[in-house]
Amino acid sequence: MRFVATCKLGLESTVAIQLKKLGIEPVETLDARVAFDDDFDTMAKALLWLRTAERLLLTVGTFAARSFDELFEQTKALDWKPFLKPTTRIHVNGKSAKSTLFSVSDCQSIVKKAIVENLKAAYHTDRIPETGEEVIVEVGILKDDVTLALDCCGAGLSRRGYRTYNVPAPLSETLGAGMVMLSRFFPDTPLIDPMCGSGTIPIEAAMIANNIAPSRGRTFASEQWTFIPDGTFSRAREEARDAERHEKLCILGSDIDPHCIDLCKKHAKKAGVMVDWKVRPLKEFETSWEKGVILCNPPYGERLLDAHEVKRLYHEMRNVFDRYPAWEKCIITAMREFEQVYGIRADKRRKLSNGGMVCTVYRYYAKRF
Ligand SMILES: C[S@@+](CC[C@H](N)C(=O)[O-])C[C@H]1O[C@@H](n2cnc3c(N)ncnc32)[C@H](O)[C@@H]1O
Repeated sequence: MRFVATCKLGLESTVAIQLKKLGIEPVETLDARVAFDDDFDTMAKALLWLRTAERLLLTVGTFAARSFDELFEQTKALDWKPFLKPTTRIHVNGKSAKSTLFSVSDCQSIVKKAIVENLKAAYHTDRIPETGEEVIVEVGILKDDVTLALDCCGAGLSRRGYRTYNVPAPLSETLGAGMVMLSRFFPDTPLIDPMCGSGTIPIEAAMIANNIAPSRGRTFASEQWTFIPDGTFSRAREEARDAERHEKLCILGSDIDPHCIDLCKKHAKKAGVMVDWKVRPLKEFETSWEKGVILCNPPYGERLLDAHEVKRLYHEMRNVFDRYPAWEKCIITAMREFEQVYGIRADKRRKLSNGGMVCTVYRYYAKRF
């Protein structure tokens, strides 16, 4: 079976690297998606462990279509019987980009009608009552190429389940994990996020350091599928539990806002990780750890602080961080002129799409002595 892990543009390499670590060989890496061919045990493992993927899809078929007739006929011609019963409730989601068929709602209803016709013929019945479990079908059209797939996740994979309270501009969990994975962080590396908000980056780092499957605390749409072997998910969960460590880590999150730090403590407890938290304004930043990684997601001037305040904060970051040359710094922001304001060119940049907004991770390597 062909599975496709979708991700934010710019995080494909982190998905591919993680798949390889899980013993899964990617067969194709394209913009915002990495494909692999494997079985349901591997699907369950990928769902529990992938830290930077947004969704996991099971491909049913791909074809080109430029008219509604073509979409209908080719959808109907696919083999839906292995996945859907007459009682399955079929929910169709869709998206279309750079394609002749641009009306997503029309495409969704045509795909649904075609699947229903296919099932009527396959099960020799006139009635598809849809009274049973739900299966989510994804229709994705890009440059007139249609992919029909089953959504294995339900809620997106960034919904780990630990972040129950929100701050005004939180980073998605997948992006938080992506930042950690793009830095030179290892399980025993000290890590500090001095503007940690709801705690996403330190919590994701702690889960990585302790080899905790990020989605172990949630359920997936595919657990309802009647066509997967019994025990698939319980086996994968047991393996994940056995692999976990619960070691004390050198990870600290701080923020100027005491309310944020209260939330961080709640979130870390829910995630099952031990992280140190502190209410502290950036200008009082200090650490006795000799070296490590500073990761942060400061305000951009969009939702928090105005442009003038953001510039002042970025100057303050530079003054504070320059005192720690042995530390790597990794800063994610959507401010285009960040490097001019901060005052040094980054050693490495990675552009990422963040919910329609283009952000860049600027990396400043640690100086060697
Ligand atoms: C974009 S949010 C961080 C969101 C966080 N990454 C998350 O996932 O929830 C920026 C954070 O910077 C904090 N902040 C702003 N100015 C600060 C300062 N001078 N010192 C410390 N924290 C500050 C804000 O309180 C806010 O929580």
